[in-house]
Amino acid sequence: MKLLVTGGAGFIGSNFIHYILKKYPDYEIANLDVLTYAGNLENLTDLEGNPRYSFVKGNITDYDLVEKLVSKVDMIVHFAAESHVDRSILDSRDFVGTNIVGTHALLEAAKKNDNKRFHHISTDEVFGSLSLTDPAFSEKTPYDPRSPYSASKAGSDHLVRAYFHTYGLPVTISNCSNNYGPYHFPEKLIPLSITNLIQGKKITLYGDGMHVRDWLYVEDHCSAIDAIIHNGVIGDTYCIGGNTEKTNKEVAYKILELLGKGEESIEFIDDRRGHDRRYAIDFSKLKGELGWEPSVGFEEGLLKTIQWYKDNEKWWKNIVSGEYRDYYKNHYEN
Ligand code: NAD
Ligand code: DAU
Repeated sequence: MKLLVTGGAGFIGSNFIHYILKKYPDYEIANLDVLTYAGNLENLTDLEGNPRYSFVKGNITDYDLVEKLVSKVDMIVHFAAESHVDRSILDSRDFVGTNIVGTHALLEAAKKNDNKRFHHISTDEVFGSLSLTDPAFSEKTPYDPRSPYSASKAGSDHLVRAYFHTYGLPVTISNCSNNYGPYHFPEKLIPLSITNLIQGKKITLYGDGMHVRDWLYVEDHCSAIDAIIHNGVIGDTYCIGGNTEKTNKEVAYKILELLGKGEESIEFIDDRRGHDRRYAIDFSKLKGELGWEPSVGFEEGLLKTIQWYKDNEKWWKNIVSGEYRDYYKNHYEN
């Protein structure tokens, strides 16, 4: 089996590449990534020279390149995206370009190459915002995206479904809740908080800190995608969640506790514009049909994550200093 993984130099994509190559000794992976600020080849240094892994630096919006790469594989697993809500609020051009146009280029390439199998990684944010008493999002929840990021992901989901209905493209879609774990870029709440505290800085909480997210350890997201790409029903959508709803304040206090810091290390700052109040996922379809459920509890996952950031200071310090951007130049360019 040959997979084209897009966005494999990012957080979840790099975890997924490690997961698949370890689990399936006969699988090959080509990783297509343009290396935006979020793409970091230091996530994949252990795979250099591995004959089952190759890296292509390129943009998913490049229709010709994508068509050529898709012709050489059996399946596309599409992670590449602009993924950070705060950045989409500041400037959403790249979100529309990558998330919508890039997904379109991949769908066209899959269609032109005898309808290749296509799995699209999406987010629970396409469903909008819940009140504290609403039932969790499920596959039946209507779309109601509220940030430029989630609107662009919703657009990409609609395109994927349109290619299934119009052209019979064999697609599946997964909508997942908030991930955390190794290789998470330190702009997102959990890795930013951990690395700030290690550096003697504060955790910054937006607004009242009472927004709720449903946290999932990244390896559990990888195992869910594994189940869907191998056993999912073509044309179907699967919601993936962690059964771990926490307010941001609860997350912050747990990180403080695990790092032995006090609440003076929290600073409340201005709220995010249009900040979604609560996300929660009902993953009973995935559990019932494919037998998947999360295996790592929140405290266990957070301990592993904190340990990883302690053991890999060089990784995140290279990001903070900007040095990680030279990795491609030093290792791939002559
Ligand atoms: P990330 O920002 O860490 O990584 C994105 C990767 O895509 C980077 O390596 C980047 O270089 C690459 N990329 C961006 N634009 C590209 C382009 N035009 N062409 C080629 N490569 C490009 O993102 P992540 O957190 O790993 O998220 C991966 C996917 O999972 C995204 O589709 C995101 O919407 C989805 N998702 C993320 C979460 C989460 O909690 N992080 C939860 C649910 C769904
Ligand atoms: O729900 C899935 C989504 O989770 C993914 O689709 C996105 O790609 C991913 O970035 C994530 O989006 P969030 O906006 O939920 O994640 P973030 O880590 O940016 O923020 C989590 C919560 O913490 C959110 O309520 C905003 C808040 N926050 C965030 C940061 C960075 C803070 O209070 N302070 C912070 O410094």
